[in-house]
Amino acid sequence: MTSRYLLVSLCSLYFAVGWPALAEPTDLVSLGRALFFDTNLSLTRNQACSSCHEPARAFTDGRASSVGGAVSLGDDGISLGDRNTPSIVYANQVPIFHKNDNDEYIGGLFLDGRSATLEEQAREPFLNPVEMAMPDQKSVVDRVSENAAYVQTLQAIFGPDVLLDEGKAFAAIVDSIVTFERAGMFSPFDSKYDRYLRGEYEMTREEEIGRVLFFSQLISCHGCHLLDSRESVGNELFTNHKYHNIGLPVNGTVRERNGVTEIDAGLAANPRVDDPAMAGKFRVPSLRNVAVTGPYMHNGIFSDLETAILFYDKYVVSNEITSINPETGSEWGSAEISESIDLELLQQGQPITEERVKALVAFLRTLTDQRYETLLDNQ
Ligand code: HEC
Ligand code: HEC
Repeated sequence: MTSRYLLVSLCSLYFAVGWPALAEPTDLVSLGRALFFDTNLSLTRNQACSSCHEPARAFTDGRASSVGGAVSLGDDGISLGDRNTPSIVYANQVPIFHKNDNDEYIGGLFLDGRSATLEEQAREPFLNPVEMAMPDQKSVVDRVSENAAYVQTLQAIFGPDVLLDEGKAFAAIVDSIVTFERAGMFSPFDSKYDRYLRGEYEMTREEEIGRVLFFSQLISCHGCHLLDSRESVGNELFTNHKYHNIGLPVNGTVRERNGVTEIDAGLAANPRVDDPAMAGKFRVPSLRNVAVTGPYMHNGIFSDLETAILFYDKYVVSNEITSINPETGSEWGSAEISESIDLELLQQGQPITEERVKALVAFLRTLTDQRYETLLDNQ
C-alpha cells in the first residue's frame, strides 16, 4: 500500500513537473491539460476527465468501487456506467471513423466508434448524466469563465469575443482538451518492446517466446491485434482498429448494480451504422499498456490479463479446463450477442497452453510505456 501510494505520488509529481503549472495555462496544450484535471467542470464539482482517466494509472480509472473498477462512478457518486473506462494513451492514434475498401468499419472513438474524432468525443463526458452531468454547453462555458487564467488564455488564442458565443466557446474548450490529448505524452512509443526494436533492450527468454508466438500463425491474436503483420515494424499499435465480436458474456455484477437491462449492441448502436448485423462488435483495443490497465474488455468482466488471454482458448479447444473461467470457477457463460462472433478468426491456431499464456503475458508486459513500468510490480 505504502509503496503504491509513493508511486502514485511520484507519478503525479512527474506529471506536475512535466507540464506548466495548472493555474497558469499559456497555450492550448497547457490549457487543455488544466481543463482535463479541473473538477469544477462537473455538476457537483466532483469529477474531472482525470477522475476516470488518471494519468498515474495509464489514464484509466484507479478508484476503488463496488464493481472492482469494471466500470466508473459518475459525478453524483452513485451512477455507474456500463462500460469499462479505457486507457486514453494512444487514443490519438485511432483513425477517424470510416469504412475501408472492403466495406469494414474502422476507427472512431468510444468502444463503438460513435465519436468519429477526438473532438466529437471530448464534447460528450461534460453532458453525460452518468459522467460529469452538466446540463448544457452554456453551463460548461460559465464554469470555465469563473477562472481568470482560462479566460485570458482562451481570449489570447481564440480572440477577445470567444466567450460571447457559447457554441464557439464550447468548441474552443474542446479544442484545448484535444490538443492536450494529441501531445506526444499520449503516444510515447518508449516501451521495452519499442526499445527492443531500436536495439536498446534485450528481451528475456520468456518475453521473446511470447513475442514470436504473438506474431505467429500458431495462435489467433495476429488476426486482430496487429496493424502490420510484419515483425519489427515500429510504432505498432497492436490493433487493426476494426470491429469484432469475441463473444463476451454480460457482466452480471455490474448489471445488478447499474440497473441496465438492455443488451450492449456495440457497433450497431453507433448512429452512423444502420446494420443490425454489427451488433456485438466492439473496436479492437490497442494492447499497449494492457498489463497495467485491467480490468479487461468493454464491460470489465475479467480482472486478470491471464484470464483475458485464456478466454480465447475456448474457441480452439473445448475441454473441461478451458470451459472454466478461473476467476469465477464457473463456465465462461454464453455470449451477450452470439450471432456475430467472428469464429473464422477466433478458431485459428492451436490451443493456448498454460506455458503459452505465461509467455504471452511476459510479452504483453513489454508493451508498457516506460513511465508505467513501475506499475508492473503491483500486478
Ligand atoms: C465517469 C468516468 C469518465 C469521465 C469523467 C470521463 N471519461 Fe472518458 N471514457 C469513460 C468511459 C467509460 C469510456 C468508454 C465509453 C464507451 O465506449 O462507451 C471513455 C472513453 C473515452 C475516450 C475514448 C477512448 C477510446 O479508445 O475510444 C476518450 C478519448 C476519453 N474518454 C476522454 C475523456 C475526456 C477528454 C474527458 C473529460 C472531458 C473524459 N473522458 C471524462 C469514462 C470517463
Ligand atoms: C477476432 C478478433 C480478435 C482476435 C483473434 C483476438 N482478439 Fe483480443 N480483442 C478483440 C476485441 C474485439 C477485443 C475487445 C472485446 C470487447 O471488449 O468486447 C479484444 C480484447 C482483448 C484484450 C483486452 C484488452 C482490454 O484493454 O480490455 C486482450 C488482453 C486481448 N484481446 C488479447 C488477445 C490475445 C492475446 C489474442 C490471441 C490469443 C487475441 N486477443 C485475439 C479482438 C480479437
